[in-house]
Amino acid sequence: MKFAPISDRLSGLGAAKWAVHVEGLRRANLGEPIIMLSIGEPDLPPPLGVLDAASAAMRKGRTRYAHGQGEPRTLSAIANHLTRRSGLTVSPEQVLYTAGTQNGLCTALLTLAQTGDEVLVPDPYYATYEGLVAASGAKFVPVATRPEDNFHVTAEAIERAITKQTKVLLLNTPSNPTGAVLSRDEIDQIGAVCERHDLWIICDEVYADMTFDAPFCSPFDRPRLRHRTLAVSSISKSHALPGFRAGWVASDPSVTPRLVLVAEAMLFGSQPFIEDALAVALNEKHPEVERLRHAFRQRAETLVDAFSGSEYISARMPEGGMFVMLDIRRTKLSGEEFAWRLLETENITVMPGESFGRGGAGHIRIALTVDAEVLGRACSRIRQLAEKLCAEAG
Ligand SMILES: Cc1ncc(COP(=O)(O)O)c(C=O)c1O
Repeated sequence: MKFAPISDRLSGLGAAKWAVHVEGLRRANLGEPIIMLSIGEPDLPPPLGVLDAASAAMRKGRTRYAHGQGEPRTLSAIANHLTRRSGLTVSPEQVLYTAGTQNGLCTALLTLAQTGDEVLVPDPYYATYEGLVAASGAKFVPVATRPEDNFHVTAEAIERAITKQTKVLLLNTPSNPTGAVLSRDEIDQIGAVCERHDLWIICDEVYADMTFDAPFCSPFDRPRLRHRTLAVSSISKSHALPGFRAGWVASDPSVTPRLVLVAEAMLFGSQPFIEDALAVALNEKHPEVERLRHAFRQRAETLVDAFSGSEYISARMPEGGMFVMLDIRRTKLSGEEFAWRLLETENITVMPGESFGRGGAGHIRIALTVDAEVLGRACSRIRQLAEKLCAEAG
């Protein structure tokens, strides 16, 4: 019996990246005092009003099949949310409801790309992107960024990577893992390249509500770029509800019906009570959203302070999101080696930078998902380990 090539293409792209996290979790479940800084799961509570909406909807019988594109109320809530953000009208016909950002990205890539195409991705990139592109059959083409540029991708680097096969640019702003937030000028310059080469842009905006000083900008909010952009997001991070699997893809009205076909092949509808909750999440103001953003910003500042003056580790303040990249290149260890040593000797899990592509080499990624006191303790231990390793190495 023969399998289709998709699972061969995907094998090896998933589990290895998360090995430190999985081992840390195993030990934590055995009762070991592990500080988990390896996964992007908001630790503060979600808005009560959204939980209440889900529970009330379930009791009202909203547990049956929902419409494949999403229910009108949900699509309006998402469209209004995106309209408020940019001032440019988004209509419900431009929105597909999805089971979170990951599902939205997969739907978008399957709709736009296939074997023989190339997808450009700024490197470092979110750990699932290689698998997403591989699932479509297209070739994953990383575009290098530099720590010295705060990992901002440039229009020139994108243009240099373009070939006749290039079909899609997959952007992520604010970025996981780097915290880079693309400015409006950068988006416009990158967009001009995409116009010149007629590329689609898929923009993963799952951290859009979590920028610190730099204002968020999406190519979907730029009038010249909107028709070639698919904006993908969810309430997983903004509202601390990753388990709801509730998100969307916004696109040109001509794109949506095609996305719906692909989405229906996978899920054929969603959970109506979760759709109702998403509508409440987006239609009403919830102080928890601002609280989360504020907490991540404060924790990032605590972390950056904790490494100031360190001889071996430097931390750059992220511009948004919920992670900090620590530059450990002066320890001469790889991110992978350093992450395993942290788990073995300090009971701390972090993600090796290499899990996010070659651009993450020599870094570890810290998730800001514990309170400032625990984070402070973890930082001291990370700093000490770096000093110990460098003293040993002479
Ligand atoms: C950049 C990025 N995209 C997508 C996702 C997945 O989001 P969702 O829970 O909405 O599927 C994550 C989750 O960590 C992420 O960091």
